[in-house]
Amino acid sequence: MKRKDKGRLRTRWLELYERIPYELLLLADETIEAINRYVMDSDIYVLERGGKLIAAYVLYALNEHEVEIKNIAVDSAYQGRGIGRFLLQDAVTRAAERGYSSLLIGTAETAVKQLALYRKAGFSFHAVKKNFFTANYPDPIVEEGIPLRHMVMLRKKIK
Ligand code: ACO
Repeated sequence: MKRKDKGRLRTRWLELYERIPYELLLLADETIEAINRYVMDSDIYVLERGGKLIAAYVLYALNEHEVEIKNIAVDSAYQGRGIGRFLLQDAVTRAAERGYSSLLIGTAETAVKQLALYRKAGFSFHAVKKNFFTANYPDPIVEEGIPLRHMVMLRKKIK
């Protein structure tokens, strides 16, 4: 993607009849079963390039004030070019338009790159979901040689 194309990025809501882009969502979550626990009750926003979905994020309402990005993913061929940062800003805009006052996002305690991205986008540490990964996934998940256990939740006030 060229720098001049960045200004033209535009996400769209994935229609209910369209297939769920599991291949993208699996970049950010371990299993289809885990994705299916939230995706059916969520709104999916996608980014297309040349007729192909190259990025997506999933918004799940926790209550009438708070909405969570349950999944955010950029096709590996397009990572590191500012699309993740753009998607976070897009999610803030859409959440604000829909009247939410806080946007949350969670990631593994070991996910240094993701934590840096979310902090730069204005999210602050909010809570820890203890034993989230050990309680919700059948097999141990190991990243960077570290077994995942707790999920770190970050929050951004949007109003
Ligand atoms: N190494 C370290 N930090 C990086 C890297 C990298 N290779 N790439 C991006 N970052 C960080 C940097 O802080 C960067 O800021 P900078 O531009 O000031 O250096 C920041 O992220 C923004 O980078 P983007 O290019 O906007 O990020 P990208 O388009 O790659 O999207 C994402 C980030 C969504 C994490 C993407 O890499 C991805 O899909 N990864 C696999 C799936 C995943 O881990 N999703 C998040 C899981 S948590 C959840 O879904 C709720």
